[in-house]
Amino acid sequence: MPLVIAMDGPSGSGKSSASKGVARALGLRYLDTGAMYRAVTWWMLRNGVPVEDAAAVAARAQDPVLESGTDPDGPTITVDGADVSGPIRTREVTNAVSAVSAVPAVRARLVELQREIIGAGGIVVEGRDIGTVVAPDAPVKVYLTASDEVRARRRAKDLAADPGASVTVTLDEQARRDRLDSTRRASPLAVAAGAHEIDSTELTLDEVIEAVVRLAKEQE
Ligand code: DC
Repeated sequence: MPLVIAMDGPSGSGKSSASKGVARALGLRYLDTGAMYRAVTWWMLRNGVPVEDAAAVAARAQDPVLESGTDPDGPTITVDGADVSGPIRTREVTNAVSAVSAVPAVRARLVELQREIIGAGGIVVEGRDIGTVVAPDAPVKVYLTASDEVRARRRAKDLAADPGASVTVTLDEQARRDRLDSTRRASPLAVAAGAHEIDSTELTLDEVIEAVVRLAKEQE
């Protein structure tokens, strides 16, 4: 069974840093599926598609051409050939991405792309529905959490250059995104059957990485 490590959890749980660290430690590829939903959202905004209009979003779901680079030391994402790794992290995209990622046509398109990239395995994949939908047979499934407060602090730190990103504002925006991501009809954020739950509130990044690496080694 080729190694696929599914890393799911809410925003700010430390998934990205942990997933990249695990990929490096085990010599695996790394895929950030959140970046793919963000890239589609960026493209919709850029092309004047009203993101709250699910039918309008669905009608254009096949149009953006996405490419994801899977080197954990330098993951890349391009849309129609343009590097969007910076623009997909703006608050504008962050606040629109839950609406776009709730559209089934968008999910169907991206899940197909994600399965192509996963291919024969050897990869750490982070997202919200990796263990439940994209790769339910992954030999290692992790659900990473942390307290709301710690998650908001981590995100506010990521957004330090943005003066609007106080911990309070981030907490509110985070609660809204959590609610949308876990109550949507299409593949809501949920703990997959057989997933190991890791609460990173009191753990260092290295401790989280070690815990996941241990799970992967137990599978060998
Ligand atoms: O992990 P992130 O914050 O970059 O993800 C951005 C958004 O994309 C998140 O609010 C929900 C959505 N998403 C999703 O629906 N399914 C995934 N597998 C990954 C992300």
